[in-house]
Amino acid sequence: MSGPFEYNNGELHCEGVSLTAIAEAVGTPAYVYSRTEIERAYRAFDEALAFMPHEICYAVKANSTLGVLGVLVELGAGADIVSVGELYRWLRAGGTAEHVVFSGVGKSESEMKTALEAGIGCFNVESAEELVALDAVAQKMGKRARISIRVNPDVDPETHPYISTGLKTNKFGVSMAEAPELFRDAAKRAGLEVIGVDCHIGSQLTKTSPFADAIARLVQLITDLDKDGIKLRHVDVGGGLGIDYGKGDGVPPTPAEYGAAVQKALAPIAKLGLKLMTEPGRVLVGSAGALISRVMFRKHNELKHFTIVDAAMNDLMRPALYGSFHPIQPLKNPNRPLVKTDVVGPICETGDFFARDRELPALEAGELIWIGAAGAYGAAMASNYNTRPRAPEVLVEGNTYTVIRTRETYEQLVANEKLA
Ligand code: LLP
Repeated sequence: MSGPFEYNNGELHCEGVSLTAIAEAVGTPAYVYSRTEIERAYRAFDEALAFMPHEICYAVKANSTLGVLGVLVELGAGADIVSVGELYRWLRAGGTAEHVVFSGVGKSESEMKTALEAGIGCFNVESAEELVALDAVAQKMGKRARISIRVNPDVDPETHPYISTGLKTNKFGVSMAEAPELFRDAAKRAGLEVIGVDCHIGSQLTKTSPFADAIARLVQLITDLDKDGIKLRHVDVGGGLGIDYGKGDGVPPTPAEYGAAVQKALAPIAKLGLKLMTEPGRVLVGSAGALISRVMFRKHNELKHFTIVDAAMNDLMRPALYGSFHPIQPLKNPNRPLVKTDVVGPICETGDFFARDRELPALEAGELIWIGAAGAYGAAMASNYNTRPRAPEVLVEGNTYTVIRTRETYEQLVANEKLA
């Protein structure tokens, strides 16, 4: 067990609250988050970057539920957004536009307009054509858009191919070869104000070396631009630091180790006095969350044992999409004989699983289970597939909890539809 989820008298708790009590109150499946753990993770990350002026722009996509965003707003985070939908959520949660950076390869004109009107801090521009489009939108509005150019440093983050973003074969950013010319072009445009450079090489990184390699390339670029008279105000190193999913195959670097690697990589340009920007998502909220589910039935044949639970791939799609590992435990009495089983959901797809051939305490029909490390890219990626309402979300703090999102109703699911 890890972090905020601990057994107390044989019963799993989140901070001081029994998860069984939450499941009985809101039903299953349900997401539960620890506020204290989010705060701890944020502070650890913040302290790790204390060596220079910095801003932590939380990657809203990791968990965009208002109640979670509200915690990050209170901690003083900024936001990394990839749509104006995320901007809307951030502002609704009390965040300010000024501390928002807007990433993504396909920002629409109307999104550019909305973000400019709101006065966001920076657009992370990802292509030459986007640069031209943003310049035109800004000029039409009589504004100047603050921009950074996202470069693709072509380093291998050594993570799952679907979540690596810093390779030449990925759609993200502009190549190192193209970047200097684009900076010079941008600097001449009346609708743009060039303030930074950024990169994001991938997610769930379990080593510091790819970050260091990518930053070394940014450092070279910043030095060259500086000689050309293009003075940047910030360097944004993206997000990507991994968390421990409990698979037992090594633990990712701590924020302190990550911070030390970033500091070392940035040392050659320390004298330029740039601000460090970061865009962490998973490392701030991942370990703070769990999906609680109830075992429905079990069955087995000559080859396999299946445990069918009431959560499914629509609630947490990471195992189906990336084959990712999430720890699983019963909410009560974990010390019992093990059974090798597939933990699967009710959805009509073979990809609907949470674990395969996993040795788990022999689970009984009707009992509750914990699927851990689900605070990031869990609820945020949930869908209504199989017309399943999205699960409620609960935020625990100490001995109390708040339902920050109720379970969807069937009426809500069809609210925008009509018969032809
Ligand atoms: N900045 C940008 C531009 C990003 O695209 C991302 C994540 C982040 C920051 C935050 O990365 P993090 O610190 O969370 O690793 N659904 C996948 C992860 C996709 C990540 C997409 N981009 C998963 O469940 O593993």
